[in-house]
Amino acid sequence: MEIVILPTAAEVGHIAAAKIAGLVTRKPDAVLGLATGSSPLAIYAELAILARSGEVDFSRARGFALDEYVGLPVEHPQSYASVIRTEVTQPLGMDAALVRVPDGLAPDLAAACEEYERAIASVGGIDLQILGIGANGHVGFNEPSSSFQSRTRIKTLAPQTRADNARFFGSPDEVPTHCVTQGLGTILDAGELVMVAQGANKADAVARAVEGPISSRCPGSILQWHRRATVIVDEAAAAGLELAAYYRYTYENKPDWQRWI
Ligand code: GLP
Repeated sequence: MEIVILPTAAEVGHIAAAKIAGLVTRKPDAVLGLATGSSPLAIYAELAILARSGEVDFSRARGFALDEYVGLPVEHPQSYASVIRTEVTQPLGMDAALVRVPDGLAPDLAAACEEYERAIASVGGIDLQILGIGANGHVGFNEPSSSFQSRTRIKTLAPQTRADNARFFGSPDEVPTHCVTQGLGTILDAGELVMVAQGANKADAVARAVEGPISSRCPGSILQWHRRATVIVDEAAAAGLELAAYYRYTYENKPDWQRWI
């Protein structure tokens, strides 16, 4: 696992975007795993600039969103289908037909989850999964106690997650109680994981994910188990890392051949 600590949240977005842009430049039809929430917004804003300037062409890139609320109409501004369309597909110039979001309205949710897994497999899997992390350590909507082998499925949102996400809704009661999320097993199957976190309220979750025991108590700790995982955080989110000085040292002394920016 590579841990990159940067001075500001803006630089987190910049460096993570550079990594993703590099992949799409090398492989124009790359399959991206798309996180929602506030953490990756700076990444998408940077990628949109690269798309507009013609530096990177996302028109052949494919995408699979990590998760979706159950029961929220697709046109609801906080449905992840809406968020992916307005923050990712449109600004990056992706082809909407190549971008999927789990269906939180399917009459048979279990069948829709299985179909989502088949759709990911049918394109050869996700090349790079973008991740944020919840204050309770969740990734996607895999709340504490999620199985490391879990696949896309229905989950009950933790009260803390509902409270955290209430800021996007009119009132806490409007936050759905259930969701559909790629499983931890699905996430572990991606070729590469890039997690971003900003701000002091993520410091504890980042420390537990990066340096704590690998445990479903903190689903983000699965990154330690992945072959190619990068964690990019700002100073505030890095505040709980015991080995911060070592991570800074390794990043500063990275050999040129190992650099991705
Ligand atoms: C959300 C999303 C996750 C996200 C996390 C953190 O509810 N389902 O994918 O990483 O919780 O959210 P934020 O980035 O807004 O802090």
